[in-house]
Amino acid sequence: MINFFKVAVFSLLMVMAFWAFANFGIPQIKPAPPPVEEKLDLGAMTMDQFIALGGKIFNGKGTCTLCHNKMGRAPMLDQIGKNAPERLKDPRYKGTAKTIEEYIHESMEHPSAYVVAGFGKSGTNDTESPMPVVTGGSIGLKEAEVQAVIAYLQDSGGAEVTVTIPEMPAAGAEAEAPAAEAAAPLKTAEEVIAKYGCGMCHTVAGQAGELGPNLTKIGATKSKDYIRQSILDPDAVIAKGFTGGMMPQTFGEEMKAKELEMLVNYLAGSK
Ligand code: HEC
Ligand code: HEC
Repeated sequence: MINFFKVAVFSLLMVMAFWAFANFGIPQIKPAPPPVEEKLDLGAMTMDQFIALGGKIFNGKGTCTLCHNKMGRAPMLDQIGKNAPERLKDPRYKGTAKTIEEYIHESMEHPSAYVVAGFGKSGTNDTESPMPVVTGGSIGLKEAEVQAVIAYLQDSGGAEVTVTIPEMPAAGAEAEAPAAEAAAPLKTAEEVIAKYGCGMCHTVAGQAGELGPNLTKIGATKSKDYIRQSILDPDAVIAKGFTGGMMPQTFGEEMKAKELEMLVNYLAGSK
């Protein structure tokens, strides 16, 4: 009996916690725009600030550290200054880059131009990269952001920084459109999946990520509660055959309650 009450009280607390979380915990009231969308006053920037901006994009909006981290799913980039010239000399190299700067740029725009040995999509014998094109799709880095990331990678990867801070069009012109876009609430689960990059790691909604479990039939075996927990607290249960600590832990803070519910309903309905 005592056990029963313990379980009942615990369940009630969990339900209340989720309710409170959904209603208050998720930043719905004041959706702060993502830092990178803040007006970039590139004209007034020093190279150090430009490199720091690149670091922010690399760790944030660019989603690079989802894969380029110590888990070994993607090569570390802290030796890129030394590695890039080796890549360019490799007979398997298929791209057009001549310099370290061009190699890094190409890696972001055409990831399959060179696939680091052992990191290709499974079954492709290292001819196809699992890395998404980061200048388009759901990540969509703009050219100035790409330049900043290159500056950051050259600086942190032991290479000379060769990019120049790009000239920006007259201030004001570029600031308005993205702001309006960011404010519009997402309307479908597919948009939520695209925004948070689930498809980079999961096969879901027409995308074919391979780092996490396939989600196209997850509703057939898993409950809504399980799916919700998997998103809010990914390491609570580690899916069989996969590694914990890979899926970002921050979706609970980033997502609005409505987005989370759309997503959970969509996945639970995928059978
Ligand atoms: C979904 C996982 C994933 C994401 C996200 C990702 N990468 Fe990669 N990246 C890889 C993998 C795997 C490789 C190795 C295969 C290859 O060479 O294409 C790689 C290769 C690279 C290389 C070449 C490394 C070398 O040693 O030659 C660079 C440079 C690079 N990525 C930069 C980036 C940047 C910058 C971002 C973010 C804007 C990013 N990547 C986001 C998975 C990812
Ligand atoms: C950087 C890669 C990565 C990203 C991005 C990612 N996931 Fe995952 N996800 C994983 C890995 C790896 C696992 C398996 C390990 C685990 O259970 O924590 C997983 C597990 C899951 C599971 C549990 C699956 C099962 O069969 O138990 C769900 C549900 C899930 N993710 C949903 C999502 C959703 C929704 C998003 C986007 C909001 C997302 N993931 C983004 C890597 C990722």
